[in-house]
Amino acid sequence: MGSRTIYLETFGCQMNELDSELVAGQLANLGYRFTDRADRADVVLYNTCSVRENAEQKVWSRLGDLKKTKAVNPGLVVGVLGCMAERDGAGLMDRMPVVDVMCGPSELDKLPALIDNAVRTRESLVTADLPASEISAKESALQGGASRRSGTLAAAGDSLEYLDLSRSVSPIDPVGSARRSAYVRITRGCNKFCTYCVVPFTRGAEIHRPPAHIIEECQRLADTGVTEITLLGQTVNHYRFEHDSAVEVDGMTQPQKGRAFRGGHRRDPLAGDRVTTFADLLYEIHERVPSVSRLRFVTSYPRDFGDDVLEVIRDCPRICRYLHVPAQSGSDRILSLMNRGYSVGEYDEFVHRAREALDQPEIGRPLMISGDIIVGFPTETDEDFAETVSLVERSRYKSCFIFKYSPRPGTVAIDKIPDDIPDDIKRSRNNALLSIQNRISDEIGREQIGRTFDILIEGPSQRALKATGLSSRDAHRALGGVQLTIGGESAIRQSSDAVSMVLEHSDDDMVQFSGRTDGDQIVLFDVARDDARELPGSIRRVRIERSSGLSLFGSLLD
Ligand code: SAH
Ligand code: SF4
Ligand code: F3S
Repeated sequence: MGSRTIYLETFGCQMNELDSELVAGQLANLGYRFTDRADRADVVLYNTCSVRENAEQKVWSRLGDLKKTKAVNPGLVVGVLGCMAERDGAGLMDRMPVVDVMCGPSELDKLPALIDNAVRTRESLVTADLPASEISAKESALQGGASRRSGTLAAAGDSLEYLDLSRSVSPIDPVGSARRSAYVRITRGCNKFCTYCVVPFTRGAEIHRPPAHIIEECQRLADTGVTEITLLGQTVNHYRFEHDSAVEVDGMTQPQKGRAFRGGHRRDPLAGDRVTTFADLLYEIHERVPSVSRLRFVTSYPRDFGDDVLEVIRDCPRICRYLHVPAQSGSDRILSLMNRGYSVGEYDEFVHRAREALDQPEIGRPLMISGDIIVGFPTETDEDFAETVSLVERSRYKSCFIFKYSPRPGTVAIDKIPDDIPDDIKRSRNNALLSIQNRISDEIGREQIGRTFDILIEGPSQRALKATGLSSRDAHRALGGVQLTIGGESAIRQSSDAVSMVLEHSDDDMVQFSGRTDGDQIVLFDVARDDARELPGSIRRVRIERSSGLSLFGSLLD
């Protein structure tokens, strides 16, 4: 397999970015190489998202384009991975015959074998000189709607867990040592079943990873020079691991099904040695892996935020004052139709409690909160929307993702509540909310002027990179962030050489750099050429001088 080349493109959320990184690591270990040109690859893989229809449309159009490529290169293997594979099921291959391999997000541990088989089959058929129409090499691994993987999890041993663990011991990290920022999964799947959402169907039941595995993974990443870790889960603050009921297979503690979690503000009374709560986990990582200078987590669920978590964030200096806590709507009636499980009053109470505990602008640590809102959910009236506007005004998000409701096959909403809000109303509500949020983001930016912050320095800014003639996509990769639309080897080269490229391109004495506050605000500042190589990955103090849109501009102190 040594010479096979893979093009891997990732759509969707951070979970998918992490999954892509893990499978890329595995495939690299098996001798596959990566390219950032789909037309030069032996295997084209799309790691897909199903959360909204337009996310799926992008993939359909990519697959349409591949028909021509495949006509020229009949040995080409095409794989659809991730949530869209799981949601569409094997029917996708009928609709799009160009697809050879399908692999759901809960089956990614099987991907190398699927690709291997498909490559061999296609090759042998091409060699046998069959007409293109008779060359077919279908391989798939899907969880299937009926069997949620967790049922057999303990008995079989969770091979997906090995996939997560393998990345930290992989000798070939596809992103190389320039890596400063990494995702670590703590929970898979989701049990909430919000009525609009496909995720519980595509990702399966909620499963919590053993704390020892998570801490070990953080430690290994830190050992390779990672300074920022973002813990991932669909409802990340729902994490809870019961040691009494932990199961071992082959000497390895297995991930655990989500237990009924009562929520509330207080620490779980059962907690102690027998249970690791989310607050315990954050504290443990903070204490045991001190070389990680920034610890973040996404996405939080508003109802499950105990005071114990807020106290740990307050008391641990390396845990960021940044919370991503989607409200989805500001109307109780809509929240209830969405099955979100909290009221507007409870959400407001949470925001208030979090700000009381964590907002400390005087020490350069204002609490930054970001959110998600869905507009145009079925039956949403002007009054419901006005309540959402009011919630956005009150919550004062640093930033907020605003989505138009997209009916998704298989969800309760599409079956039970007709999508009765016309697209032009969805669009106008979306635009109205965007402009309100832009004003708020701008105001929050201006509030930071004159303040000083510790920032984690990332590297040359997008502007500095673009000036070298890179495309914006390559420039983003070159920043060496967690984004991994794997351009494979060229991405490795770019991330470690970003500073060199900028220095080579320009004779200026100063280079524009970017960094982020612990509240996740972007800060742009100039650094002297001579310092440019040492700065990425370090934490330095800046004073903010002006702000524009989502960016702050400042200068380095000391
Ligand atoms: N687990 C996270 C969100 C995961 S999906 C949470 O519960 O907060 C990311 C975002 O996509 C959601 O917060 C929601 O705002 C949006 N989303 C999900 N399904 C959608 C749909 N059918 N139409 C429009 N937006 C949707
Ligand atoms: Fe989807 Fe709701 Fe789960 Fe988030 S909490 S992933 S919106 S079902
Ligand atoms: Fe999309 Fe699946 Fe993530 S549907 S948002 S890739 S969990």
